[in-house]
Amino acid sequence: MDKIVIHGGPRLRGEIRVLGAKNAALPTQCAALLADGPTTLRHLPQLSDVRTMNRLLTGLGCEVAGERTLTIDPTGVGAGSLEAPYDLVKTMRASVTVMGPLLARYGRARVSLPGGCAIGARPIDQHLRGLEALGAEVTLKHGYVETRAPGPEHRLKGARFKFDLVTVGGTQNVMMAATLARGSTRLENVAREPEVVELALVLNKMGARIRGAGTPVIEIEGVDSLSGIDHAILPDRIEAGTFMVAAAITRGDVVLKDAPVDHMHSVIETLESAGVVCQPVPDGLRVIGPEELAPIHVTTLPHPGFPTDMQAQMTVLAVMAKGRSTVTETIFENRFMHVPELCRLGADIRVNGNTAEVFGATPLSGTTVMATDLRASASLVIAGLVADGVTEVRRVYHLDRGYETIEKRLRPLGARIERVHGAKS
Ligand code: EPZ
Repeated sequence: MDKIVIHGGPRLRGEIRVLGAKNAALPTQCAALLADGPTTLRHLPQLSDVRTMNRLLTGLGCEVAGERTLTIDPTGVGAGSLEAPYDLVKTMRASVTVMGPLLARYGRARVSLPGGCAIGARPIDQHLRGLEALGAEVTLKHGYVETRAPGPEHRLKGARFKFDLVTVGGTQNVMMAATLARGSTRLENVAREPEVVELALVLNKMGARIRGAGTPVIEIEGVDSLSGIDHAILPDRIEAGTFMVAAAITRGDVVLKDAPVDHMHSVIETLESAGVVCQPVPDGLRVIGPEELAPIHVTTLPHPGFPTDMQAQMTVLAVMAKGRSTVTETIFENRFMHVPELCRLGADIRVNGNTAEVFGATPLSGTTVMATDLRASASLVIAGLVADGVTEVRRVYHLDRGYETIEKRLRPLGARIERVHGAKS
């Protein structure tokens, strides 16, 4: 297993380009299953999760070629099992988002139940209830979900469905299923994330008829078929936010090229409340860290609220801020696993229920820490940038799920960071 070794201290200065969004790429790769022909996706980040999704699509019968520019031809799908197997779904929970497209286009799907993950139980009950509302017959057997579209034509039927809670994946799965259903569908209490809006844009480019994405209600007129398209993935607001925190805590001055500023208001407002200067510049955003950071008070919420995927990274900023900060996590039940590792670096953080109290500014001193999940590992890397001495982050396969060669991209900004291949875990 690789590890990342960081010598703390340098202020980050210069320019870094924000790459395509992992959480836009994954559902869009699934959407390609709905088309009658090949889809080309551009600006894809080269991440293990994107590669895992490609393995899943290949297993379903797709022809998949390329990396940064990816072509997915679903013509061969349907002859095979239409199954998302356990070993892929357990590796990447987003695999369950093939269910809606397979059900809509081929009338059936067999998907392994994802099981829990490090940050929580993460059930898929809302996905299944939404698909049942569209007429799907859902059976749970031997750890798999077997779904079938009803009737002799095996075609879903439009319906009205209200989610019990806001779910990004659930919204995406049911929205994709509804695009080929017979008649109209109205989905209420849907997720409003930019990646949901992006997926609706992709589906409409394919010939779907979706209105309201980005609002609490999405309406879909079912159509008979969808075509393959050529689409460039939008930039990653979470990667951008991660780099912004790195610039802020190192008292740096960094321009983030292609940062999706319009999708980042809650992160920008939080950073500005800490005294960070966030200045829009042509095709990007300039971030200047102050000599002293003010404490912050953050509560994660569905978009447009503060994103849970930025919670661990913003906790590191709170550690470096002078005073008492609070970070409250309302989306996942176990998303503070970065806290014990940050405390080993010298942070003073007390977790009480779903709120972390952070007492800063505490000088951090480097040591060996363990990554536990994707965003926790990102928080440990950026903490290493300001810790005195050497910080070693182990099990960085977590990091590689969501950040493309982060060490190579931070080095030109002055970071003293390198990857050691094959280190003991
Ligand atoms: C997406 O996961 C993202 N992943 C996550 O990013 C992100 O943290 C999450 O949305 C919330 O914004 C991708 O887009 C690939 P949810 P998703 O369904 O869709 C509960 C990262 O770091 N829930 O919105 O799986 C669930 O347990 C990843 O990039 C149900 O109870 O998240 C959670 O508590 C991590 N039943 C909450 O809803 C359901 O049927 C939000 O989950 C579905 C969800």
